[in-house]
Amino acid sequence: MQRVLSGMQASGKLHIGHLVGVLQNWVRLQDKYECFYFVADWHALTTGYAHPEGIKGSTEDIFTNYLAAGLDPERCTMFLQSRVLEHSELHLLLSMVTPLGWLERVPTYKEKKEQLSDRDLSMYGFLGYPVLQSADILVYRADFVPVGHDQLPHLEITREIARRFNHLYGEAFPEPEALLTEYPKVTGTDGRKMSKSYDNAIYLSDTPEEAEQKLRTMKTDPARMRRTDKGDPEKSPVFDLHKVFSTKDEQAEVAEGCRTAGIGCIDCKKILIKNIFALLEPIWEKRAQIAADPSILKNAVDMGTERATEAARKTMGDVRRLMGFEWGM
Ligand code: TRP
Repeated sequence: MQRVLSGMQASGKLHIGHLVGVLQNWVRLQDKYECFYFVADWHALTTGYAHPEGIKGSTEDIFTNYLAAGLDPERCTMFLQSRVLEHSELHLLLSMVTPLGWLERVPTYKEKKEQLSDRDLSMYGFLGYPVLQSADILVYRADFVPVGHDQLPHLEITREIARRFNHLYGEAFPEPEALLTEYPKVTGTDGRKMSKSYDNAIYLSDTPEEAEQKLRTMKTDPARMRRTDKGDPEKSPVFDLHKVFSTKDEQAEVAEGCRTAGIGCIDCKKILIKNIFALLEPIWEKRAQIAADPSILKNAVDMGTERATEAARKTMGDVRRLMGFEWGM
C-alpha cells in the first residue's frame, strides 16, 4: 500500500477552514493509503522560539480535532514529531547536503520573514524549516504528501534533497509527490481570509454559543442598511460562507432573496448557522467525549508514535548503512 504523510504545525487553534480544507480530505485518504498524520511541534519553534509555552496547548487542540474530525487511530498513524527522535537525526544528516542557496530561494522564507518583522527570524532553524519538513517526509519514505498550494515549494525542495542524497549515498528515498488539494477558500467573519491572525475565525473549539454569536454578528453587504434595501450577495462575507457550507439550492435562494430584499440578513444567516452547526455537532460531541476522558487522546498518540517510531527506525537503519555509520552498532 502506498504511503501518505502530512502534518500541521502546532501554532494556534484549528478553525472550520482547516476542517473542510484539510481534515476532511485526510479522513478520506485513510481508506486508500497507509496514512501518517502528525503534529509538527518542533516547527512551531521556527517562528515561536521565544514562546514555547503555547505549543503544548496547540498540540492538544490539533490532536483532539484530528480525532473529532474522524481520523481513526486504528486506520491511520497519528503521532507527535518531537517524540520520534529519528526526525532530528535525519534533519541533521540532510542539513549537511542542503545548499544554503536552495533555502534562501524558498518564497515562503522571505515572505514570512517580512510578515513577522516584529520577531528576530535571523535564525538557522527558521531558514532550515524546509530541511526539517523534508526529514518529516523522507524518514517515512512517503509516496504522497497531501498539501495546499502554499506548501509546494517545500515539497519541491524535499524532492531535490532526496535526489541529492540518493545520488551521494545510494537509493535511500523515493521522491515524494504532492497530492495537491484544492481547498475551498473560507472567508472569515470580517470578509478577509479566515485566519487566527485576523481574529475572524470560527474555531472547532468554540462553544455553540460562541460560534452562533460570531456568525450572527458577521458583516453583510454594507449597502444593505435596512431590511427593505436590496443587496448584492457577492459583497457579503456571509454569502462567501454559504458557498462552502450550503447546498446549491440554498445558495440560489439566499442570493435571490438578497438581491430582491425578499429575505433579511438575519434569516440568511440562520440558514448558514444551521448548516455549520450540522457540520460541527458531531465534532462538538467527540470533543466533549475526549475532554471527559483524556486517555482517548493519550492512547491514540502513544499507539501512533510507537508505530511511527518503528517505521522511522527502519529508514534510519538503511540510511546509516548507506553512509557507513554502523561502527559500534
Ligand atoms: N509546513 C506545514 C504547514 O505549515 C507543516 C508540516 C511540517 C508538514 N512538516 C510537514 C506538512 C511534512 C506536510 C509534511 O502546514
